[in-house]
Amino acid sequence: MEDSATIRIGNDNYDLSIITGTEDESGIDVRSFRKQSGLITFDDGYGNTGSCESKVTFIDGDKGILRYRGYPIEELAEKSTFLESAYLVIYGELPSHDQLQAFRHRVSAAGVLPESVASVIEAFPQDAHPMAVLSAGIHALGTCHPDKISNDRVKDLAVFDESAAIIISAIRKIAARHHRFRMGLAPVKSNPEKTYCENFLSMMFSKTDNGEAVPPAVSKALDLIFLLHADHEQNCSTSTGRMIASGGANPFASLAGAVCALWGPLHGGANMAVIKMLDEIHESGDDGSRFILAAKEGKTRLMGFGHRVYRNYDPRAKILKGACDSALEALGVSSPILDIARHLEEVALQDEYFIKRKLYPNVDFYSGIILQALGFPTDMFTVLFAIGRAPGWLAHWKEIAESGGKIHRPRQIYQGATERVYLPLEER
Ligand code: ACO
Repeated sequence: MEDSATIRIGNDNYDLSIITGTEDESGIDVRSFRKQSGLITFDDGYGNTGSCESKVTFIDGDKGILRYRGYPIEELAEKSTFLESAYLVIYGELPSHDQLQAFRHRVSAAGVLPESVASVIEAFPQDAHPMAVLSAGIHALGTCHPDKISNDRVKDLAVFDESAAIIISAIRKIAARHHRFRMGLAPVKSNPEKTYCENFLSMMFSKTDNGEAVPPAVSKALDLIFLLHADHEQNCSTSTGRMIASGGANPFASLAGAVCALWGPLHGGANMAVIKMLDEIHESGDDGSRFILAAKEGKTRLMGFGHRVYRNYDPRAKILKGACDSALEALGVSSPILDIARHLEEVALQDEYFIKRKLYPNVDFYSGIILQALGFPTDMFTVLFAIGRAPGWLAHWKEIAESGGKIHRPRQIYQGATERVYLPLEER
């Protein structure tokens, strides 16, 4: 690969260097281009823009490869746990036995949810969307730790380990507390003796205030879903979190913003939309053919299909497709929508429309089926995505803070009205 590129405009040549990553991905460094030429580069939606250099996650969308800090997702899914992978994503290396123990201890010792956070959660209308509550809950949590939200990178970095543990611990407590509140149920105490997922499931679904035992297969299925969501490089929510961090804001603010960005149906909200779609197909008695036709005609989208980066099977979807059967069997439930999902996939993967556009199942296509079988309400699916993604958002906050980089600030091509004269109201 050449190490420089020349852009020619009329008779002028502009020399730009080429940046190459450790996996041989290359990009033209356009940082000096505006200074040289007076022009900006235009890339609506950032489909061809590298916004940063990062060491957290590598994706090769054409080959369907995903690695956290160099480790293939398939290997982590088989051998690691969510908390171990969270450590890996945040700190860059697999933890030693002692490091993992200390990390687990920090997370479980983060304590009960502060009463002021619980009050914020319960101040929302009972039918408030859980993503709105989650974002607000994370903000409220930050205000309980004024020493960790100084918005001074150096100071916030010095206490980052504690902030990260508090957030990873509390994010599931906010989710569980809100679920119990809207169900009209008393909160269940957190039990630090339990594993991360057992404790969360117990806080969610226990019939007694003190929490009940959770079948290992259930907590294992949830642990896998969290692990598979731990990071996914510069997606919409992570870029939002990085954008907030670039202004010098603290990790709590960065994550609260990332949660909002995750909410939309084209991003994290797709897991809810998939179940809605599958339920509708199930209720209509159709085998999905009509839905596929509508998607091909541009009237709707096959939710859980397609990805900005993957032009191949999303490796996380492959793992979850395999996990669906074992999770459902362990739970002793059957899911009619799983058969519909499998059928939709089979049909779509043989259809010229989907083949031509390289549209394959993404992580959301099968995750919702497992989450539904675990008993989570559909409108909490994106919250579960957020719990899994928290380590990634934290890793990116840390990367930005450590780099001491500039504030992120894209430019635009203005297409609005040119200068005009203000007319007083009575003259309009
Ligand atoms: N169903 C039907 N057609 C689709 C789908 C789909 N799910 N996704 C893309 N297309 C079509 C588009 O209509 C377009 O067709 P055209 O070229 O004839 O106009 C073409 O494929 C390219 O689509 P874009 O929207 O340009 O692709 P982009 O990379 O911008 O979008 C996205 C990616 C948003 C994920 C899209 O595939 C989509 O909407 N999928 C459904 C929602 C979804 O599952 N989101 C979750 C993504 S994973 C995540 O965020 C965790």
